Amino acid sequence: MTAKLIEGRKIAEEMYADLEREVSKLEVRAKVKPKLVVMLVGQDPASLSYIKQKQKACAKTGIEWDQFDYDESVTTEELVGKIEELNADPLVHGILVQLPLPKHISVPLVIRAIDPKKDVDGFTAYNLGKMFTSADFEDLAPCTPLGVIKMLEYYDINMKGKEAVVVGHSNIVGKPLSTMLLNRNATVTTCHIDTKDLAFHTKRADILCVGVGKAGLISADMVADGAVVIDIGVNRTDEGKLVGDCDFASVSEKASYITPVPGGAGPMTVACLMLNVVKAAKRLSGYKE
Ligand code: GUN
Repeated sequence: MTAKLIEGRKIAEEMYADLEREVSKLEVRAKVKPKLVVMLVGQDPASLSYIKQKQKACAKTGIEWDQFDYDESVTTEELVGKIEELNADPLVHGILVQLPLPKHISVPLVIRAIDPKKDVDGFTAYNLGKMFTSADFEDLAPCTPLGVIKMLEYYDINMKGKEAVVVGHSNIVGKPLSTMLLNRNATVTTCHIDTKDLAFHTKRADILCVGVGKAGLISADMVADGAVVIDIGVNRTDEGKLVGDCDFASVSEKASYITPVPGGAGPMTVACLMLNVVKAAKRLSGYKE
């Protein structure tokens, strides 16, 4: 079987076209310009690249962008102080603290400081708690898992009753994605670094989602014939090429659908962030359709 490509980039472009119209409507009818503020600590090359993509998406959709850069030596208190200022600013609708943060910073304290209504990353306990309740209560959901669900929906890939195997249990990707698949009545297995026999689980998957950050982790012999494979990994090879966690050439011969890297989950993450910013701006401004 040669897999059909899940074209995340194409879906993201369609979302941008819709969002651009929504942003114009908000401006004309409510005099509100959605605004995203990003806080960056240090100069991690991957973070810089992600931020550049987010800034470009803002420009494309008409969302205002502001960025605050901090030296590695910044304290948790300084970051929390800035977040509190942004929480109180009525012109700001989304606050995003780019991760990872240096070891001396308390990530939970920083995330907790963000007003859940402006938490466009969907990382606060409030928004994660809503997501935990049911699909109906998913609100500002984490962008990467939301992007995965949107890709599956776009291609009419039914989740109900399917064996979904998620490899990776991070707070940003694996855990919330497992919850969102469960909300859609998939039978979900979450694998992680201490999983004893990874291949045993991955071979059973109707829908296999992998977000670990380890090139070549999933080879074709670990994938069932006809599986839907969502590769969320982002890795750079020694030659500087971007690849996912799956061996694309061989896995795509076995899968029924597969996401490319780049051009799959990555663009969808950024588009879902824009979706969350517009959603937050509408609610904060009391805009009614
Ligand atoms: N670092 C890697 N992915 C993300 C993300 O989705 N949001 C934030 N804030 N930081 C990240």
